[in-house]
Amino acid sequence: MSITLDPWGYAAIEDYEKLLEEFGIKPVKDMISLYSLDHHFFARNVIFGHRDFDTWLEKLKAKDNVAVLTGFMPSGSPHLGTAMVYEELKYFQQKGAYVKIAIADAEAYAVRREDRGDLIKRGVEFIAHAIAWGVNPEKAEFYFQTNMTSSYYRLIQMFSRKVTEAEMRAIYGDVSPAKIMAALTQAADILHLQLEEYGGFKYVLVPVGIDQDPHLRLTRDIADRFENELGLKRPSSIYHKLLRGLDGNKMSKSRPEYAIHLDDPIELAEKKLMNALTGGRATAEEQRKLGGEPLKCMIFELYMYHLVRDDNELRDIYSECVNGKILCGECKRRAISKLRELMITHSENYNEVINQVEKYVKKPSF
Ligand code: TRP
Ligand code: SF4
Repeated sequence: MSITLDPWGYAAIEDYEKLLEEFGIKPVKDMISLYSLDHHFFARNVIFGHRDFDTWLEKLKAKDNVAVLTGFMPSGSPHLGTAMVYEELKYFQQKGAYVKIAIADAEAYAVRREDRGDLIKRGVEFIAHAIAWGVNPEKAEFYFQTNMTSSYYRLIQMFSRKVTEAEMRAIYGDVSPAKIMAALTQAADILHLQLEEYGGFKYVLVPVGIDQDPHLRLTRDIADRFENELGLKRPSSIYHKLLRGLDGNKMSKSRPEYAIHLDDPIELAEKKLMNALTGGRATAEEQRKLGGEPLKCMIFELYMYHLVRDDNELRDIYSECVNGKILCGECKRRAISKLRELMITHSENYNEVINQVEKYVKKPSF
């Protein structure tokens, strides 16, 4: 059965290996030691695939002109899945890359049909959360899609000539004017950094969740078609697995009780965690005998993605679980205390940042 990825849909992804085969995405594993990729997302295969990441890393190493660009639809509020991208931005920034972040308000307005006022307000909050998470605003730039200069829009208009409807359908399934606009706008997000007006050619890396790969396939084709006319080159990209909702399904805005939002009150976040799906057995006795199943457990997923940075500690939890030495109640309490610490730090940072964030971004006027 072939798989489709829908960047605007809500399907959970079952089999990441298959995605690599199906779409020609390369596994990232081989590059970890070659390039000393010292983030736990690499070691734990959370970032599992890429396109032309090696090219970008070579340029980074050579201190050539490199940048990282990604974007956020400002619908809802950022959650621990969003924070994975924040974490990646922070990492590459620390490696010396310049970072630019799009607030995809044009996309959210057209495709998600959200109110402009809400989008603008939340766009600013998404930026404040990024900074609170550790993205350095002095080494980054933030913008709203609807607030760019004319050459960015010129790209969108020019791109429209060299994309066919059949191609859009093949990539996205069904299409609509809103989706076409959003896809071409995203291509402009990714490619505009190569224009003279935006500082001249750079190698651009796009860190995203795997659901965004359709946009990258389109953007790569567009770059090829405009290589002669505009000197555009293909971007590089890396893909992380999607953090699942606490019930084990894909996180979705319509089920906020299964996602931990960065602005959740601590007590609410704790309650959500307490109700999460685990890999525990039906009875304590059974669990002591058979052990738990951490790879099916949402608590373990949180440890792996966010709550435990130290690999030895993670291995210990894993062993305790599979050997039945710890039961889920105690394990959840441990997770809660780690989550609490993370969220307290984050909200302290956020409260400091939110009042100054507007100096880092220009808000659209309507
Ligand atoms: N489509 C992305 C999302 O759904 C947001 C986005 C807009 C983006 N422009 C981008 C992501 C450029 C990466 C690069 O969240
Ligand atoms: Fe998950 Fe912990 Fe239970 Fe193991 S003991 S299944 S890791 S909650």
